[in-house]
Amino acid sequence: MENKCERAYITTPIYYVNDVPHIGHAYTTIICDTLARYSRLIGLETFFLTGTDEHGQKIEEAAKKRGKSAKQYADEISAYFRNLWDEFEISYDKFIRTTDEDHMIGVQKAFEVMYKKGDIYKDMYEGHYCVSCETFFTQNQLIDNEYCPDCGKSTSIVKEESYFFRLSKYEKRLLEWYEDKENCVLPKGKKNEVVSFVKQGLRDLSVTRTSFDWGIKLPKSINDPKHVMYVWLDALLNYITALGYGTDEKLMKFWPATVHVVGKDILRFHAIYWPAFLMSLDLPLPKHIAAHGWWTRNGEKMSKSKGNVVDPKEVADAYGLENFRYFMLREVPFGQDGDFSQKALIDRINSDLGNDLGNLVNRVLGMSGKYFELELNSDELKKYHAKELNECEEIIDSLQQYIFDMQLNKYLEGLWKILTVANQAITIHEPWVKMKEGKKEEAMALVALIGNLLTKVAVLLHPVMPHTTQKIASVFGFEIDYEAYKKYIENKELLPKITLKKIDPLFPKIEKMLMSSPEPTAVKKEKVQEKKTDKKDSGIITIDQFFQTKLKIATVIEAEEIEGSDKLLKLKVDLSEEKPRQIIAGIKEFYKPSELVGTQICVVSNLKPAKIFGHKSEGMLLAAKDKGTLTLIRPEKSVKNGSAVG
Ligand code: MSP
Repeated sequence: MENKCERAYITTPIYYVNDVPHIGHAYTTIICDTLARYSRLIGLETFFLTGTDEHGQKIEEAAKKRGKSAKQYADEISAYFRNLWDEFEISYDKFIRTTDEDHMIGVQKAFEVMYKKGDIYKDMYEGHYCVSCETFFTQNQLIDNEYCPDCGKSTSIVKEESYFFRLSKYEKRLLEWYEDKENCVLPKGKKNEVVSFVKQGLRDLSVTRTSFDWGIKLPKSINDPKHVMYVWLDALLNYITALGYGTDEKLMKFWPATVHVVGKDILRFHAIYWPAFLMSLDLPLPKHIAAHGWWTRNGEKMSKSKGNVVDPKEVADAYGLENFRYFMLREVPFGQDGDFSQKALIDRINSDLGNDLGNLVNRVLGMSGKYFELELNSDELKKYHAKELNECEEIIDSLQQYIFDMQLNKYLEGLWKILTVANQAITIHEPWVKMKEGKKEEAMALVALIGNLLTKVAVLLHPVMPHTTQKIASVFGFEIDYEAYKKYIENKELLPKITLKKIDPLFPKIEKMLMSSPEPTAVKKEKVQEKKTDKKDSGIITIDQFFQTKLKIATVIEAEEIEGSDKLLKLKVDLSEEKPRQIIAGIKEFYKPSELVGTQICVVSNLKPAKIFGHKSEGMLLAAKDKGTLTLIRPEKSVKNGSAVG
């Protein structure tokens, strides 16, 4: 995000309507909602777009499976998304559907412009298609000549007449863009992946299909009715058709987008195809494309077949929507993957929210009630606590950059530093002692410090927790809006003389809430599992149970990085079997491939093979974790490959 503009245009990806939303979708939407609320708070004219992506083979097939027409099915699931976002109070300005008439007209107009410019031509497409990812692949991109390198599902061979977009023509300009605009793709690590992908050379992109129907037809002027548009061309254009491109262009004043927030799996489409389409349309490029990581369950991708999908509504119902928002944004640094766990969520609520924030509100109310009949003034605050106040103002001055860099977790950490200053000030200055000593003015200054710091935190936390922070603001008698932002943050004003208003505790201890709330499916399962292990004498196993795990020594004979993964390495290991085995291991942050080749490791050899990041994994290696580092478990001396451990 950038501040050198009076307008902000923030977008989520548009969600496929083949299935209902899960926490991954909620995550993207909550990030964008927070950014949109922040831009409004700081006074920018803001347009926030979300919606649903409804065409393509995947949706057509999903509808067919359920015996519905594609449109009927899309209507249902799109409404489901929209209702959920409404329930979550997502502050979108427009909810676009790619089946909207205006969108379809805009897409046809764009196609026509590109075609007339000579950027679209007709040819034959021959290659492989992954319906799940709606992506074309060449033979050598596939895994085992068949499987999609992104999702691991089986691909199908497509041979059909197609229109192509001259993506190759834009290779050089794209590389110049990445070079010129340092932050056009965030985070930086992901940008480097995009740049190296483009440097390998871009092939023209098939942008129409003839083998199915559920898509936008080509413009009448081209007169080729058997073709429908490739779903990604249709979908990406939503970012401008939502502003009226090709119809009523009044809202195009919001273009270019401030930020397109996307998951890392769809970064390539946004950081390569989309800017190339825009170049072809002679439109300015988005300012930022920001890719977040994935939410997993016990380290695994969520999928219906594994039964590990977390339903965002269940989580929000059980733990509170705003607590859930805080957790998602605080728990995981933007761009990295995060594992959803009930324990981590409860810890965040009880500790960060309950202890650090909620208790501070209680303490300010308690002290001002006990000593000052709820009256508070900031008259002597600077006399006694200028140091703490300045320290916090400095923290605040550094916070906005975190939003512009999409480091929302750092932004929240910054706000919590202010809470720490406030909590420590109470411990250090002991206002109850001051009162006993008759130093009422000093005690008032301390309580005023806390009140003022809470005011600032409430304003700045508002985009993440709108209702909770409004409740805090009501203690101090103000509404959180642009005026409050100007007053307490920009102009650094102090609270006037006020009478505080009591409120109910903000964050009741979570054990109580769980007992009275339905638990999310995934959480229920976790509990059941916990109980089962309890019965097994708190995790004690028999020797027979231990030997069910076959541990063996193997030598690493090949090791390489996996494109697009920050964590994984692909290893070939020799276990003295007929063929070497392939193991996908999450050790990239700790070992270089070259350090591994020729060394021996310890492997769980009887693990059921699994697909990880689209690659077959036939075992697991053993490693010890210690304070953020990881060390492989190896035999002390070289032993024969395949030797049993135990
Ligand atoms: N329809 C396309 C986007 C077109 S935008 C012009 C699409 N839709 S999607 O429904 O499959 O995914 C939407 C977003 O949800 C993506 O950004 C994706 O990364 C995100 N997530 C889906 N599963 C996720 C997790 N488990 N965790 C975090 N986000 C993930 O792709």
